[in-house]
Amino acid sequence: MPILVTGATGTVGGALVRHLVHDGHEVRALTRDPSSPAARALPPSVEVVDGDFDDPPSLVPALRGVTRMHLVAMGGVLGPAGAEVIALAEEAGVRRLVHLGHDDFSRDDDDPLETSHRSLRRVIEGSTLEWTHLFPGEFAANTWEWAASIRSSGVVRAPFPDWNSSLVHEADVAAVAAAALLGDGHAGRVYMPTGPVAIRRTDAVRAIGAAIGREIAFVPLTPDEARAEWAPTLPPIVIDWFLEMGRDPDNNAWVSPDVETVTGHPGRPFPTWAHDHAADFRLR
Ligand SMILES: NC(=O)c1ccc[n+]([C@@H]2O[C@H](COP(=O)([O-])OP(=O)(O)OC[C@H]3O[C@@H](n4cnc5c(N)ncnc54)[C@H](OP(=O)(O)O)[C@@H]3O)[C@@H](O)[C@H]2O)c1
Repeated sequence: MPILVTGATGTVGGALVRHLVHDGHEVRALTRDPSSPAARALPPSVEVVDGDFDDPPSLVPALRGVTRMHLVAMGGVLGPAGAEVIALAEEAGVRRLVHLGHDDFSRDDDDPLETSHRSLRRVIEGSTLEWTHLFPGEFAANTWEWAASIRSSGVVRAPFPDWNSSLVHEADVAAVAAAALLGDGHAGRVYMPTGPVAIRRTDAVRAIGAAIGREIAFVPLTPDEARAEWAPTLPPIVIDWFLEMGRDPDNNAWVSPDVETVTGHPGRPFPTWAHDHAADFRLR
């Protein structure tokens, strides 16, 4: 019986597919575009199935014969289609669901950054499924944002050089997801996987430099300069959120024990992530 992984072409979903395949499990991967380079790069044993959360009935073939699934909170599942997707999963016979999303507990339900995630959370908790929520800390993979400028000019242009964040390796989030999909005792639990230690932006840049054997300069941006830099790729609400968070260098430095508690292994520190992804930052 296949395990359905949605978000399989993404950061955590991709790591989860590799984890499950490595351990000998049958995996079905959902994507909106099976011909994309990311979908074609999935391991050959993976069954790749077309489907889109924005069109819930398109998920029916992917859900057929599935009892366990990983749901990434993206696209339409974060809107009114979320309830339809969960109902379709129940009808198809899904019993266990691991939900990868986001929850900033310090913010209210009607906060624009939280509201769609909270409504999906409520739909899942109101379902008959054995659910587990994963609300990780900041992904180490967010530093891919720096890859192009590191490759082209050996420079990172970013605000808040002292900002401290417990960057988590996607393989550790995936290992927690795999444990919750495969093992018992995770139903009704909320896990918040983080890296084992927080790292400041300048030290993260240094770690990438060490991994690729190249000195990288950190060029600090003012908040206004950062806003202009991010404007082409990020919605204003997300930019405001990042700039607000940056005012307190240690507000994202919290470390959770969940990776080690759930998997039995300590989380990987950022230098390990930089080493694992060095090729993405090297001149090609
Ligand atoms: N980045 C962070 O620091 C961070 C921290 C905590 C929590 N999170 C949460 O982690 C989750 C993943 O975030 P991410 O930005 O890292 O995503 P991502 O890895 O870039 O993955 C996006 C995935 O979602 C799939 N997808 C997007 N829209 C879809 C749709 N309409 N129907 C079906 N599949 C769809 C894509 O598949 P195809 O393109 O192949 O269809 C892709 O595999 C989010 O819920 C986010 O809030 C992120």
